[in-house]
Amino acid sequence: PGKPTIAVIGGDGIGPEVVTEALKVLDAAWGADAYERVDYDLGAERWQRTGEVLPDSVMAELDTADAILFGAIGAAPGATDIPSGLLERGLLLKLRFAFDHYVNLRPSILYPGVPTPLSEAVVGGREIDFVVVREGTEGLYCGNGGVVRAGTPQEIATEVSVNTAFGVERVIRDAFERATQRRNKLTLVHKHNVLVNAGGLWRNRFEAVAAEYPQVTTDYLHVDAATIFMATDPARFDVIVTDNLFGDIITDLAAAVTGGIGLAASGNINPDRTHPSMFEPVHGSAPDIAGQQLADPTAAILSASLLLQHLGEDARAARISEAVAADIAGRGHTKRSTAQVGDALAAAVS
Ligand code: NAD
Ligand code: IPM
Ligand code: MN
Repeated sequence: PGKPTIAVIGGDGIGPEVVTEALKVLDAAWGADAYERVDYDLGAERWQRTGEVLPDSVMAELDTADAILFGAIGAAPGATDIPSGLLERGLLLKLRFAFDHYVNLRPSILYPGVPTPLSEAVVGGREIDFVVVREGTEGLYCGNGGVVRAGTPQEIATEVSVNTAFGVERVIRDAFERATQRRNKLTLVHKHNVLVNAGGLWRNRFEAVAAEYPQVTTDYLHVDAATIFMATDPARFDVIVTDNLFGDIITDLAAAVTGGIGLAASGNINPDRTHPSMFEPVHGSAPDIAGQQLADPTAAILSASLLLQHLGEDARAARISEAVAADIAGRGHTKRSTAQVGDALAAAVS
C-alpha cells in the first residue's frame, strides 16, 4: 500500500499558526516521509480573492485523502467584510456533513499541574477524564428554517432541529461502545423537558441501545444541569453523548475547566470510513490573538495525535499525548510562543 495522504487546511487567524506546529510534531513523531501531505488554501482569504468557499473539485480531492488536519476558519465576531456563517456553514459544516462525521469526539482530561478555574475542593485528587461524543451531522446545524417578512417588525426566523432515529441511534451506539472501552459510564445530555419531540427520540433510542449494554451504567442530565456538574463535579463524567448544539456549548465549557481552550482537541469521525475523518482543535480562529505567536498550539497537536490514532498509529499517537502531558505539567507560568511550544513537543517526541 502507498503512503497515507493527509490533507491540511490551515484556514484563518491562528489556524495556520497552530497547524504549522501540529505538522512539526507529526513529522517528528511519524516522519515527514511517512505520509503524503497536501495543503489546501481555503478560508477567508480565498473567498475574498476568488469568491470561492469550497469548490466541488476541491471537495472531491479532499474525499480521496486518508484524513484531514484542520486549523480553524472564520472572521472576528462582529466583522463586516465576511458574512457570518459563510465559512462556518460553507466550509467546516459542509465537510462534516458531506463526509458524514457523525461522531464529533471531544476528549477532556485535566492533567496534573495544569491550571484550572476549578477549586481544589472540586479537583480534590479525583481524576477528571471524560469524553463528549457530540452528534455531528444533524440537529439545529442542518440549516433548516428561514426568515419571513425579513426586515419588518413582523420578521419571523426559524431554525428547525433535525433528529432522525438513524442518526441518533448510530451516535448513541458509538458512545456506548466507547464507554465499554473506558469506565463503563454513559450520560445522555439533552433537554427533553422542553424539547419534547427531539428529546423524546434521543431518550427512546438511548434506552433501546442501553438494553444491549447491561455493563454500562447510564444516567441522564438536562443540559442546563449538566453545565452545573461540569463546573462543580466534572470527575463524575466518563462518556457524554449529546446533540450537535448542546455538544458545541458544553465542550467549550469542558475545555475551560480542563486547562483552557488551547488544549482541547477533537476528531470529526466517520466511523464507517466511507469518507476521510477530520481532526481539529475545538477552538476557532481567535482573531484577537492571530498573527502574534500567542496561540497555544497544543490543541492542534493533540488533534494530530487523534489523527494518528485513527490511522492505526497508536504508539506514535500516545507518544504525542504523553509528551503533551509532561510538557503542560511543567509549564507553570512560563510564556512561550506558538512556535516554541511546537519546537519543545517536536523535540520531545523525536
Ligand atoms: P475562538 O475559539 O476563536 O476564541 C475564543 C477565545 O479563546 C478568544 O479569546 C481566543 O483568543 C481564545 N483562544 C482560542 N484558541 C486559542 C489558543 N489556541 N490559544 C490561546 N487562546 C485561544 O472563538 P470565537 O472568538 O467565538 O470565534 C472566532 C471565529 O472562529 C469565528 O468566526 C467563529 O465562527 C470561528 N470558529 C471556528 C471554529 C473552527 O474552525 N473549528 C471553531 C470555533 C469558532
Ligand atoms: C466548533 C465550532 C463550530 C461548531 C462552528 C465554527 C461551525 O464552534 O467546532 O466547535 O459550532 O461546531
Ligand atoms: Mn464550538
